[in-house]
Amino acid sequence: MPIYKNYSDGKSQIFVWKYDEKDVFHDALLIPIDESVKVENYHPKKKLEYLMIRQMLKNTLPNHTIQYKNIGQPYLFPKDYFISISHSFPYASLVISTKRVGIDLEKINEKIFRVKHKFINQNEENWVYNQTEELQFLTIIWAIKEALYKLHPSKYWSLKKHYSVEKFSLDDLSEISCSVFDDDFVDNYIAKVVNIDHYYFAFIEENHNINYKIPFDK
Ligand SMILES: CC(C)(COP(=O)(O)OP(=O)(O)OC[C@H]1O[C@@H](n2cnc3c(N)ncnc32)[C@H](O)[C@@H]1OP(=O)(O)O)[C@@H](O)C(=O)NCCC(=O)NCCS
Repeated sequence: MPIYKNYSDGKSQIFVWKYDEKDVFHDALLIPIDESVKVENYHPKKKLEYLMIRQMLKNTLPNHTIQYKNIGQPYLFPKDYFISISHSFPYASLVISTKRVGIDLEKINEKIFRVKHKFINQNEENWVYNQTEELQFLTIIWAIKEALYKLHPSKYWSLKKHYSVEKFSLDDLSEISCSVFDDDFVDNYIAKVVNIDHYYFAFIEENHNINYKIPFDK
């Protein structure tokens, strides 16, 4: 199986695929009939991302399918595991877990400087801006906040107002404290981040002791 990286642990299967021109996908096995018209109209790279994700699922849970809530959040059918998805061609990542999870693959790209004011809060600004490695810090914070967004049921639109990342060192990305908060609650998490080529990959799983404000409609 051409998995590029496998970070699986006891609770989660964590796969990253990097597309190779030699990869062969069997559309008929991977695309459900009710999605075939939609997927055949995808841009070729988007279709390959779709196929990489479905192949990773097929290799692990051959009889499960990916369904979507109205807000675009994926879930498995049958609903016996949680999943999260991220892709940025030629990479695609799928996590299958016994716990709720969120992942994000983010390319290191200087364009992020143009939007940093939209997702960096005052606390983060104090230790990130004007650092020699500001680009790396911004990319990691963005990846963590997107992974938190995918994991947390509140789905706040503003990554600046409701998501926060504590100060960390680029020398150790294995346990980064982060949170989702509003006036009446704070849910704390630990993010794991790894560098994959020109990307950062963030992975966050649900804690045991958090109090969700909005029930998760599994
Ligand atoms: C939905 C969103 C998280 C997708 O992230 P992205 O970096 O654009 O793309 P990724 O490849 O990492 O993730 C895409 C996958 O996220 C998943 N996803 C989409 N909506 C989701 C949601 N509401 N909850 C959880 N997962 C979701 C899907 O599986 C999707 O892939 P698929 O449709 O092929 O199955 C992002 O576009 C978004 O809306 N973020 C909200 C916060 C934000 O960015 N605000 C702007 C502040 S400046």
